[in-house]
Amino acid sequence: MTFEELIEIKRDGSEHTRSQIDRIVLGYASGEVPEYQMSAWLMAVYLNGLSPDETVWLTDAMVRSGRVVDLSSIPGIKVDKHSTGGVADTTTLVLAPLVAACGVPIAKMSGRGLGHTGGTLDKLESIPGMRIELAPEEFLEQVARVGVAVIAQSPDIDPADKKMYALRDVTATVPSVPLIVGSIISKKVAGGADAILLDVKVGSGAFMKTEAEARHLAAELTRVGVALGRDVHCVMSDMDQPLGMAVGNALEVAEAIETLRGEGPPELTELCLDLAGKMLVLGGVATDYAHARRQAEEVLASGAAIGMFERWVEAQGGDPRVASDLSRLPRSARTREVRHVNDDGFVTGMDAEGIGRAAMMLGAGRATTDDVIDPGAGLQLHVRVGTAVASDDTLATLHAASEAQLDAAEARLRASIRTGADRVEPPPLFHEV
Ligand code: URA
Ligand code: CA
Repeated sequence: MTFEELIEIKRDGSEHTRSQIDRIVLGYASGEVPEYQMSAWLMAVYLNGLSPDETVWLTDAMVRSGRVVDLSSIPGIKVDKHSTGGVADTTTLVLAPLVAACGVPIAKMSGRGLGHTGGTLDKLESIPGMRIELAPEEFLEQVARVGVAVIAQSPDIDPADKKMYALRDVTATVPSVPLIVGSIISKKVAGGADAILLDVKVGSGAFMKTEAEARHLAAELTRVGVALGRDVHCVMSDMDQPLGMAVGNALEVAEAIETLRGEGPPELTELCLDLAGKMLVLGGVATDYAHARRQAEEVLASGAAIGMFERWVEAQGGDPRVASDLSRLPRSARTREVRHVNDDGFVTGMDAEGIGRAAMMLGAGRATTDDVIDPGAGLQLHVRVGTAVASDDTLATLHAASEAQLDAAEARLRASIRTGADRVEPPPLFHEV
């Protein structure tokens, strides 16, 4: 069968066999299948979907497109966490040391940011000296010795996802449930996780705009993860407004440090404690959530979590003094306060995606994979949905290298924060799973 015939099968809404899915995924990963044919197949999948079996086969083929990390030399259940992508979502930087301080080893591979959502690697690289490329032996040795390591995913792990994600990004085929499921679960399985905690974001700033869509994605992620022999748990958290108050790489590191000191914004702190409790249960160090949650609260309060952060940063060559002196983090040359100019009232809505785009315009993100980011750029919000605002109150502080960037981002930010005369209830942090 030619590749054209494989495209026809999906174009006409029929089902592939397992060996056909293997040919498509492994053929594209190896370079045999050209991008124009894979683009057509991805669009056919976007329009006609994949059956339950096809989604499992797709995910399994993606895992087999590269090397699978073997974490069996590290004792215990290896738990990984993944978020479907958010704005001001610094949870990984908080959770990794927090959970490690409770005794669950964290051996994590992360990605860079693309579009309006930030990436953990870019945030880590804003810490002076921090190395994110470790050889496999060095990575395992650090997890055994320190308890935590977070590194760049090496190119030989799940190469099918790297190529497919890049192609989806430019062919309008990202928001497809089977393709998202294949992408997320294959990466986690190839990364060596025994158990996976997924934070499915819901709202205007997320891929899944409604609770019904997010619930469907959560159910599919769980089903496919379990079919591949992994323990999977999902939460659904809000992305109708940014999670934390900082958007931008060094600014988010600073916010993570404040959170690890017990001085972070309430929503970010709550989500981190909730996810940490669930990771401790999945990791088998606690039998029930209430007990696990208390343990996470204790390591935050005792200073054990920030201590683990310092040891982790130092182990990867970074300057651990950032944990007690935020001025050691890079800052952009220029700042601007964005002030409320209208009548007194309340913040009635925040467009998380628009705020993420404003941060990109400041230099904090990339529009294409080879854009260079400014580690000190970004913005700090001073308001959330429901906050009372009077004329001249500061809505946000912007950080960038140039006045032109500040001008462009200010306009975008203003368009992303709605105000009105009547107070509205803030969106709930959690949606029902
Ligand atoms: N996150 C991923 O890793 N992959 C997707 O396809 C979407 C979100
Ligand atoms: Ca972010």
